[in-house]
Amino acid sequence: MKLVQITDTHISHLGGSPSENARLFVQFIDELAPDIVVHTGDVTILDPDEDRDRVAAKEILAGISAPMRVLPGNHDVGEPGDDPFGDRPVTSERIAAFRAHFGIDRFVEIVDGWAVVGLNSELFDSGLPEEEEQWAWIETLPELVGPRPVALFTHKPIWAHTPEHQNTHLTVGPDSLPRLEAVLAELDVRAFGSGHLHRYAVTERDGAVVVSAPSTAFVHRSAVSADVIGPGLTQLGVVEYELDERVLPLFRAPLGIVEPEFLEVEQARIALDAMGVVLPA
Ligand SMILES: [Fe+2]
Ligand SMILES: [Fe+2]
Repeated sequence: MKLVQITDTHISHLGGSPSENARLFVQFIDELAPDIVVHTGDVTILDPDEDRDRVAAKEILAGISAPMRVLPGNHDVGEPGDDPFGDRPVTSERIAAFRAHFGIDRFVEIVDGWAVVGLNSELFDSGLPEEEEQWAWIETLPELVGPRPVALFTHKPIWAHTPEHQNTHLTVGPDSLPRLEAVLAELDVRAFGSGHLHRYAVTERDGAVVVSAPSTAFVHRSAVSADVIGPGLTQLGVVEYELDERVLPLFRAPLGIVEPEFLEVEQARIALDAMGVVLPA
């Protein structure tokens, strides 16, 4: 079974390199001919309240022929915690706006004997009613999935590189982690895939392959230290997974993409301005 994970497309209604890259990746994914595509969020450039970015993203991503499921990232629905980026906390309204374009923010797809599961990482530690709804659903997963091998996807990674960095900016919230781990212990998870870090890395946890997928839009070469998020490849791409008896993740990228730093993307600077975010110099 072949699955492609695309993430952190950060598409703006103003176009520019994120959109041009996304179009190249859409065509490239079709050439890879996967059975299923999972988008692990940060679909839109930065501001969860800019509906025009969702419209633009949806139009570009519609070019993918394979069945696709889309999860939200912090830039699609806001994030939990005391100090959310751009003063955009995750809210019921923001989740509803995401769902209106991309469907429900959690899923199970059974593909060729595998259970492909997606969770909304921005709900953990949020205290929203949608968090409890998601928990109630998560706790039915062992029954829904049975003995099948599982590939589990989230926007933010479930675990931090080191436990002191387990926080709602980087990972699944620390208060929710033990409850999630209790459910995971009842599943045969063979692969974990996340986005958010804009960096490709493959590690291993209790026999499962743990993948951090790269962005298709921009890289953070200097901003985030490897001490915090772990080592990885700072390049744009997607991840192709061969899911059979074994799990084989493969970094893939087409020719012709441009690879800017975050602040080299004009549309990102415009969005930051519109959100009133001033980044430290
Ligand atoms: Fe991102
Ligand atoms: Fe993110």
